[in-house]
Amino acid sequence: MLLRVCERVAIVVSSAEAVREIYKGNEALFSERLSSPGIDEISRHGQGIVFAPYGDHWRLLRRILVMELLSARRVEVFRHIREEEAARLVWSVQAASSPSGGGLVNINELLDEFMTDSVVRAIFGDKLPDRAAFLRTVRQGVQLSSLFDLRDLFPSSRLVRLLPRRGGKAERQRLEAFRLMDNILKAHEERRVARDEDHEQDLVDVLLSIQREGAMRVSLTDGVIRAVLLDVFGAALDTTTTLLQWAMAELMANRRVMLRVQSETRSVLTGQSTIQDSALKDMNYLKAVIKETLRLHPPASFFTRVCLQNCKIHGYDIPRGATVLTNIWAVSRDPKYWDEPEMFRPERFEGDGDVDFRGMDFEFTPFGVGRRICPGIDFAHTSIEMALASLLYHFDWDLPKGFEPDKIDMTEVFGATLNRKADLFLRPIPYVPL
Ligand code: HEM
Repeated sequence: MLLRVCERVAIVVSSAEAVREIYKGNEALFSERLSSPGIDEISRHGQGIVFAPYGDHWRLLRRILVMELLSARRVEVFRHIREEEAARLVWSVQAASSPSGGGLVNINELLDEFMTDSVVRAIFGDKLPDRAAFLRTVRQGVQLSSLFDLRDLFPSSRLVRLLPRRGGKAERQRLEAFRLMDNILKAHEERRVARDEDHEQDLVDVLLSIQREGAMRVSLTDGVIRAVLLDVFGAALDTTTTLLQWAMAELMANRRVMLRVQSETRSVLTGQSTIQDSALKDMNYLKAVIKETLRLHPPASFFTRVCLQNCKIHGYDIPRGATVLTNIWAVSRDPKYWDEPEMFRPERFEGDGDVDFRGMDFEFTPFGVGRRICPGIDFAHTSIEMALASLLYHFDWDLPKGFEPDKIDMTEVFGATLNRKADLFLRPIPYVPL
């Protein structure tokens, strides 16, 4: 589908065949991200990674992310954070479900706290200065990056560039985010100089040590470190939280699946009072539940690239400079690739040779594909598995009295991530105490 929006030309890709043709044969031509004066402002002028132009700066940051910051080894180092935060989640559910609160918990809120604490601890450590202001500012940045302003729609117009910018909101957001990041970098440096033994290494420390030692033969400025950390944090937070919230909603709406995944969790963990990361590898049905949630409710409903050269895809001419929008949501609900696509059926992901999300199966691309595929897959997946396994092992779950599973509100709210419109209130019944 071709869309013309003012000066912009956008091609919407909604079939697995077209995704394959673009990202298998012609990927180098489609690895650029969208740019515009508005996006440049929010993306700190390409210093970060998410909107970095496809070139040396992006390649360098990508290498640091894949080999250091979000590598499998680093995700393993954060195991104790996941285990501790999951235990805290179980305590919070227990505490919030007291009879004085009517026995109901707002599970969306508790999952949000779990994910925020896990991501903050891994990236910034235990002591985040101005935590509330920082979270507010990052969320505002993510929201602003999904909006258009006139400069995005008329990038070549000098007149439009002279108009007042989004009420200066983006600029204020950027300055505030940088001020707060400077405090974070300063606090880390002070702890290093004071040789604070209690401080565990987080991602800020990793980047600062690469900067100090010139490791990986790169030189990083403070500006780049600030921008990259803000990008990684913004990319990690709402995507993972939203997915967890959808998974719980689907399990409540599909009792058969809930009983099966609970039974798997409980048989793998028999006799244990807390969950260790190592037990998750045996929970295959849980993994299928997560995949099925990613299929029906991909947190990023599309990803965007720009075509660098005139070319032909699937018989259609794609002009240089066109924005190419891959509609993850539509492809993963297309009856051409999926039986009964509207049904929540994790079984479709069971068995040998099942479809995976690592960019090789073009009908299922919740993390994107190719060179710019999400580098946070392992980080996201391990945290999501841990939280779900904990909730399913320690509790049985009921809907509020008189509320039927088919009445659960599944309305999506479109934005930077595909969020749930309604909070989900549930009654936890303790099964295995911590
Ligand atoms: C369920 C969770 C997540 C989903 C569904 C998701 C999805 C995506 C998608 C669709 C893209 C665009 C890929 C493309 O253009 O091909 C992306 C990019 C990215 N994601 Fe994720 N993501 C998730 C979690 C995370 C986490 C936990 C982190 C970091 C800890 C992260 C960091 C990034 C970064 C840095 C990029 C930009 C990569 C680049 O441009 O080279 N994401 N993600």
